[in-house]
Amino acid sequence: MRVERKAAAVGLLLCAAAAAACRQEMYNQPRYKPLGRSDFFADNRQARPPVEGTVARGMLRADSRLYTGKEGNALVSVFPLPVTRALLDRGRQRYNIYCAPCHDRTGAGNGMVVQRGYRQPPSLHIDRLREQPVGHFFDVITNGLGAMPDYAAQIPVEDRWAIVAYVRALQLSQGARVGDVPPESRGELDRAKPTGEPSPASPEYPTLYKSAPIRGSGAGSVPGAQLDPGAPAGGVKAKPPK
Ligand code: HEC
Repeated sequence: MRVERKAAAVGLLLCAAAAAACRQEMYNQPRYKPLGRSDFFADNRQARPPVEGTVARGMLRADSRLYTGKEGNALVSVFPLPVTRALLDRGRQRYNIYCAPCHDRTGAGNGMVVQRGYRQPPSLHIDRLREQPVGHFFDVITNGLGAMPDYAAQIPVEDRWAIVAYVRALQLSQGARVGDVPPESRGELDRAKPTGEPSPASPEYPTLYKSAPIRGSGAGSVPGAQLDPGAPAGGVKAKPPK
């Protein structure tokens, strides 16, 4: 019995040693370290440069109109993709997320960031911008302009075009007449009666928001914000941090 146990222990030990040796051999196999030196190639680099003209998957970007908004050096004036209802809906959503903080939801240029002191952009409804080809808007989003940062990293190419389509719709909406509405839809205009609230495009809008008291304990961190004296002590209850 004792002898058997000893034999089993020795066997186990041998197995373990063999396994360890095995791993060691794999570890020590001849192989290159990344970007190391090699005497095999004339340029002494073991990492081989990609064949000339190699294009990374998904990066072909052959359609310059779609990816740059330009054809040669000229800005395109026709959308390089079909403008559908779905594209416009997407554009409205993306515009309200990425552009409205500065340009406001109507494009007048009174977004909250501007009310807090950022340089005011021109209204998207001035003649110069109404007359710009669509490629200009794509180019401004892609490369920025003056004080406006570029949004190439945040907004994928097709979303940029969706935003451009929505900017065009905004421009149309601000200059539209009843005659532009198809006769069968004119009834909806009466149903959408104004509620008496100033629209962001109206001149009262910025002052109204500037003078509005800001309640809540967070107001202290906003320069120039005042706590409403009528607000309950401690302001609105803050949510516990998550
Ligand atoms: C951080 C604030 C900010 C955001 C966000 C922003 N813009 Fe601007 N935008 C500006 C400012 C400021 C200017 C004026 C730049 C200048 O002339 O220096 C401007 C200018 C423009 C112009 C006018 C270009 C011209 O020819 O004068 C367009 C068009 C425009 N922005 C579109 C957009 C769109 C579309 C978005 C959303 C993707 C966007 N902007 C997001 C601040 C912003």
